[in-house]
Amino acid sequence: AERTFIAVKPDGVQRGLIGEIVKRFEQRGYKLVAGKLMWAPKDLLRNHYKDLSDKPFFPGLVEYMSSGPVFAMVWEGKEVVKMGRKMLGATNPLASEPGTIRGDYCIDVGRNICHGSDAVETAQREIALWFKPEELSDYEFASKPWIYE
Ligand code: GTP
Ligand code: MG
Repeated sequence: AERTFIAVKPDGVQRGLIGEIVKRFEQRGYKLVAGKLMWAPKDLLRNHYKDLSDKPFFPGLVEYMSSGPVFAMVWEGKEVVKMGRKMLGATNPLASEPGTIRGDYCIDVGRNICHGSDAVETAQREIALWFKPEELSDYEFASKPWIYE
């Protein structure tokens, strides 16, 4: 089944939004397969955002992401990468629709409270970067037939 890497960024943790973000994925029917609170080393963050290393905001992004612990998660289910991005909303919260996580809880692009993998291959890379294989739990929901046809 498809998996994605979702993280509550340091501002989301400080603002008490871990539960809210977890709740939305749970209520949608997605399955949590890993989760941990982690103060990420800068090397991990530079690697995580390596495609953005030429951007002017890159140093500030690494500072922001290392300003406190993040809540890192892996979620599983049908089209969870694409749906996870939709649930998060547009990168810039000023463009995020109300009803999305960013559209409901933040204002500034440099304080946009959550991360979601942008493609299936990216998700695989990010999951391997943030989690050891033994940190992922393989299990089934008893409710699976009530979620999937
Ligand atoms: P992530 O889920 O965090 O990867 O966001 P994204 O995929 O929607 O956007 P992208 O990967 O392009 O950028 C990663 C993060 O860098 C964003 O979530 C923002 O926190 C930050 N960022 C992106 N663009 C800007 C910008 O123009 N200014 C600032 N200050 N931060 C930015
Ligand atoms: Mg991104």
